[in-house]
Amino acid sequence: MSVADKHMLDQVREIFLTQARYCEELDSPFMTRLCRLFAAHIKEDDATASRLISLPKPPSFWTLALALRVAGALHALVLTGRCDRLAAVYPPHHDQASDEQLWDAISHAMLAHADFFVPFLDSAPQTNEVRRSAALLPGFLFIHEQTGLPFVLSELGASAGINQCWDSFGYRLGSTFWGSQDAAVILEPEWLGEPPPPSLPLTVRERAACDLNPIKFTDPNERLKLLSYIWADQHDRFTRTDHALDILAAKGYAVDKADISDWLPARLSMDTTGAAHVIYHTIAWNYQDADSRDRNRRLIEEAGAKATANAPLAWLRFEADDQDPGAALTLTLWPDGQEHHLGRADYHGRWIQWSGW
Ligand SMILES: C[S@@+](CC[C@H](N)C(=O)[O-])C[C@H]1O[C@@H](n2cnc3c(N)ncnc32)[C@H](O)[C@@H]1O
Repeated sequence: MSVADKHMLDQVREIFLTQARYCEELDSPFMTRLCRLFAAHIKEDDATASRLISLPKPPSFWTLALALRVAGALHALVLTGRCDRLAAVYPPHHDQASDEQLWDAISHAMLAHADFFVPFLDSAPQTNEVRRSAALLPGFLFIHEQTGLPFVLSELGASAGINQCWDSFGYRLGSTFWGSQDAAVILEPEWLGEPPPPSLPLTVRERAACDLNPIKFTDPNERLKLLSYIWADQHDRFTRTDHALDILAAKGYAVDKADISDWLPARLSMDTTGAAHVIYHTIAWNYQDADSRDRNRRLIEEAGAKATANAPLAWLRFEADDQDPGAALTLTLWPDGQEHHLGRADYHGRWIQWSGW
């Protein structure tokens, strides 16, 4: 084996080990085990691993997302009923299978179903996390508490558009409940910190969203892909996403295929008198390059400078920063332009640490 190939093995092993650490933090024991199993088999004398690393793919393929591509492809083989041998050791049966049995089934699936598995790897993993709405809701309540106005909503990087449906979900935030008790999706994050804002009714006057690559989930193959990237042992996350997609389909909210930089100026130039215009995004802003982030921040701030009490502008964001744990929930609200550090939340919305000021 050449030095370059050995280097490749080291790189791929590290990708799976790093992904295993993230999966452990995000409470997916099965994905942690799967990634560690791959890392353990990424060695010179393993036929399946050698085949994986010899796939003719561009350098951009060999990044952290590789582990998610592989896990997504395997999960899709199970979900589509293509591979019974893999399904027999996959959740919910995984606890009865030894590591050896699991790896045997994975090797079999990757080789016997290469015609499905290999092309599946070409798609970049793209998810849409329902529980991020639980981080947004207290932000929306806070904005309403401050402005008393209905909303015009603009979501950036919306993926399939699930979080446009935030007001169709029910929420238990601490000791309060918001929304319908009968909602098909009820979010109950662990509530930490200060009490949530008062549970007032919220009205949406208009809503829109953009994404570079909106997932066309009404196409069964695209829906399958989105669900395949949900980690196989996170059954509740899977069910929630499935129900949320049904709600989204029933509501018919669209996601415009557009780069944030091209879409935002028109949204910011709308006349929103009598409403609070809320620009919001969850785990999307940092996907832009640094120049675009600066330019789009300036655009929002310039629009904010023109906001009035009867046409306020809010910028609500749930994004990674350089702190742990989780991501920061931040709001800038104009006309006064004050920045509020509302709290932090887990990336998958399992907990919210609310400071609310
Ligand atoms: C990690 S996903 C988050 C999706 C969704 N906001 C959520 O929280 O589930 C990031 C999303 O941002 C989109 N995205 C990245 N850069 C973008 C850009 N410049 N303009 C529009 N969308 C972008 C991606 O296509 C992807 O759907």
